[in-house]
Amino acid sequence: MKTIIEPFRIKMVEPIRMTTVEERRGFLEEAEHNLFLIAAENVIIDLLTDSGTAAMSDAQWAGIMRGDESYAGARSFYRFQEKVQEITGFTQVIPTHQGRAAERILFGLLGGPGRVIPSNTHFDTTRANIESQGSEAADLVIAAGLDPGSLYPFKGNMDVGRLEELIRRVGPGQIPVCMLTVTNNSGGGQPVSMDNIRRTREVLNRHGIPLFLDACRFAENAYFIKRRESGYGERSCKDIAREMFSCADGCTMSAKKDALVNIGGFLAMNDEELARRARNVLIVTEGFPTYGGLAGRDLEAIAQGLEEVLHEDYLAYRIRTAEYVGEKLEAAGVPFVKPPGGHAIYLDARAFAPHIPPREFPGQAIACALYVEGGVRSCEIGSVMFGRTDPQTGTHLAPPLELVRLAFPRRVYTQSHFDYVIEVILKVHAGRSSLRGMRITYEPPALRHFTARYGYR
Ligand SMILES: Cc1ncc(COP(=O)(O)O)c(C=O)c1O
Repeated sequence: MKTIIEPFRIKMVEPIRMTTVEERRGFLEEAEHNLFLIAAENVIIDLLTDSGTAAMSDAQWAGIMRGDESYAGARSFYRFQEKVQEITGFTQVIPTHQGRAAERILFGLLGGPGRVIPSNTHFDTTRANIESQGSEAADLVIAAGLDPGSLYPFKGNMDVGRLEELIRRVGPGQIPVCMLTVTNNSGGGQPVSMDNIRRTREVLNRHGIPLFLDACRFAENAYFIKRRESGYGERSCKDIAREMFSCADGCTMSAKKDALVNIGGFLAMNDEELARRARNVLIVTEGFPTYGGLAGRDLEAIAQGLEEVLHEDYLAYRIRTAEYVGEKLEAAGVPFVKPPGGHAIYLDARAFAPHIPPREFPGQAIACALYVEGGVRSCEIGSVMFGRTDPQTGTHLAPPLELVRLAFPRRVYTQSHFDYVIEVILKVHAGRSSLRGMRITYEPPALRHFTARYGYR
């Protein structure tokens, strides 16, 4: 059959509260135009993030009941450890409460003033954890990764030429680790090819620099490799994932994505000495090494989720969802990052609202309009999240892309929900000339998008 269906039946439902345009205008004003500050019950379709928003399976809920809550050596930890080892091949497995806790531990041990940590593109929490140690976070994605219209199949790839150049310029001794984000969330959820992972590895090998994957969406990346890279079509996604991890020395993982759970993460590696030091930090900041920041029941759910996420019918449905939305937007002439990534559609805000300059946050203006129009919550990934003000000149330094991300929670929404979202986007696009630029009225010192306040120009 041509139609790819949701490969699950719905056993429990969560009602959606309908609201009017007028009501939503009021909620947005109360939240001072920050969508993170809107109560979730006032959102109709919540595409703010795919992180921690998955629907768990019956087997995962059963695991929740089986969770062993012993402080030390819980049965659930061993099940979790075994599954992570099976999929990643890494021997040392350290549970954390979510991905950023793994990042905090890793960069706390490896970072420091004068150090540089390259990646294809660091996610915001990764960048913040690197910079808070006084290190520099360098984004080295290939040029196609910064061109929203390019149809290159692996736009998340690392520019290995620029990586070599960076190593030559700062010296390998200043680069304690290199990251590869799979898939590349900040760059449009674009995949990294196996060939590129290998070539990155080869460059690093020549200089004795370890490679860690930011593996939040490893299964989606594996599926793209299967579909798009020659020689992988007949291989299982589990096998491909194993090969991806085999090229790395370790990984940070937010289990809130491709482990299909609502909370959790881990740090995994082969270096026993580094793992020993990481566990010492873990005990101070997260908890005992056999639970990290998690309950035994969470570890059970992660172990089960890591198994389910690699099922090929699940991945086919998952990737098809973004493709489907992309096809409808393409047909209507709405600009977005092409080809669609794995977990989200990213509207190209510069092309969508070209009359709003980056310093007036076109992405934020579009995100607010999507909320008012249809109660759809999305997330700006552009000048709000990554823009800076030059301290000398006071001018706005814009990031390469101005995007609005509509991230898809896993196994939560059906095709008719997505048809509704498409209708809302098309309506906002049709009225785009009336969108107004915005200004920030309050911002905190770091990660400003979470708590900033805005007004219209
Ligand atoms: C690529 C990437 N890395 C790291 C993180 C951080 O994970 P967490 O939210 O679990 O701390 C995220 C979260 O969205 C992410 O997308």
